[in-house]
Amino acid sequence: MNIDLIISADDIKKEKVKDKTAVVIDMLRATSVIITALSNGCSEVNAVLSVDEAFKICKSDRSKHILGGERKALKIDGFDFSNSPLEYTKEKVSGKKLIITTTNGTRAIKGSIGAKNILIGAVINGLAAAKKAASYGNDIVFVNSGTDGRFSIDDFICSGYIIDRILEINPEIELTDVAFTAEYVYRQNKDILSFVKNAHHYKIVKKLGLDDDVNYCVKKDIIDIVPEYRDGIIKVF
Ligand code: MLT
Repeated sequence: MNIDLIISADDIKKEKVKDKTAVVIDMLRATSVIITALSNGCSEVNAVLSVDEAFKICKSDRSKHILGGERKALKIDGFDFSNSPLEYTKEKVSGKKLIITTTNGTRAIKGSIGAKNILIGAVINGLAAAKKAASYGNDIVFVNSGTDGRFSIDDFICSGYIIDRILEINPEIELTDVAFTAEYVYRQNKDILSFVKNAHHYKIVKKLGLDDDVNYCVKKDIIDIVPEYRDGIIKVF
């Protein structure tokens, strides 16, 4: 068994995910949103690439759906929610189907199609994601969403955190150089917030005054569900 890591949605290659367990990471903030919404009773999530597609899907029955996501980290016109996980409360999402489109996260999820299992991970469900990924027994690949096709510190250290947890379960697992480096960076920086402050995307969300989102997204293991993408839908199977 081994663990590899892909540094951004633009770097996904079919052969790098094929037949593996992919753990998709966009800790700031798409995968944190999906995990939070499902944990708060949302029935399923449909991650789509375009705003038009999102509107089209919910057209038949708008009342059953909620639309969430972002462009340039801001709420999309006509959507119900932005990409802030704190908006997805029990009262608002329980029993609803979420359609989400984001700049990087939803691309990383769709790009992982071809993997044997596609798990949705973040710091907030890190331990649960580690246990689930290890339990499948396949090679694992962390698919970091990155930022606009580039490496991003936040997703890298989040992957490092989950890899660290997997190694506690199975110390024999082999790491590629990039996966080793992610885990090494986490081990040297266990206070994830301090390290994430160096990230380009952190500076963007900080500028928008989204400190509460960041403070939430760096909390380790506050949720113990692991959503999975299967046949176009994300939910807890
Ligand atoms: C994305 O998918 O690009 C991000 O989640 C952006 C954001 O923080 O809103």
